[in-house]
Amino acid sequence: MDIREIILQRRSIRRFRPDPVPPDLLRELLDLARWSPSWGNTQPWQVYVLTGEPLERFRQANQEQLRNGVVPAPEIEMPQEWPATLKSRYVGVGKDVLTALAIPREDKAARIRYTLDMFGLFGAPCLIVVCVPAALPRAYAALDVGLFLQTFCLAAAARGLATCALAASVNYPQLIRRLAPVPEDATIVIGAAVGYPDADVPVNRFSRSRAGLDEFAVWVG
Ligand SMILES: Cc1cc2nc3c(=O)[nH]c(=O)nc-3n(C[C@H](O)[C@H](O)[C@H](O)COP(=O)(O)O)c2cc1C
Repeated sequence: MDIREIILQRRSIRRFRPDPVPPDLLRELLDLARWSPSWGNTQPWQVYVLTGEPLERFRQANQEQLRNGVVPAPEIEMPQEWPATLKSRYVGVGKDVLTALAIPREDKAARIRYTLDMFGLFGAPCLIVVCVPAALPRAYAALDVGLFLQTFCLAAAARGLATCALAASVNYPQLIRRLAPVPEDATIVIGAAVGYPDADVPVNRFSRSRAGLDEFAVWVG
């Protein structure tokens, strides 16, 4: 596959097969992702790879917190408000997902089940959690993590693996800290589900949209 195909083929997968990802393959992807650019080559990322029994414990505890209405306490501030255009995109993808799942907007119980499924990582057999030293300015550290994660996701796509960056996986960071040796002076930035896609389900196949080039690019000169 050429890079164009890989970029266009990667998409966020919201239903995974349970098949485990071979550890050597995960190593290969992380080995490629370490070549991502970072501020002054600082490579601030620290990655925790959760699989097997610890991951199952995390999945259940994450769902439990949601079920119990525990207030999220992510270590990186989540956006709460968006400019109108951005909000319409965010609402739009939410609608696309529910439509693909045949969940009517007014079916609150089904929407809750879907959110629980998200907090259960859509059944993924692996979660990678990316952290940075807490002493770093958040914005720059998050840039580096974003670049790292994108390299990882593209490398995964090229090898037939699926990913979904998941804010829903870092809403309750204490759960991760209980299972993985994240140092106190590190900040948990983001997690991503990794696994093999359930290729046939509509939630993994709906058509996605993007703003046109002229909506965001300004040519000067
Ligand atoms: C930082 C970040 C956090 C995300 N968190 C979630 C999440 O919690 N749940 C979810 O279903 N998708 C999540 N996504 C996936 C986005 O919804 C997705 O990237 C976007 O809709 C574009 O779709 P695509 O990735 O399929 O191209 C997240 C993406 C990013 C970059």
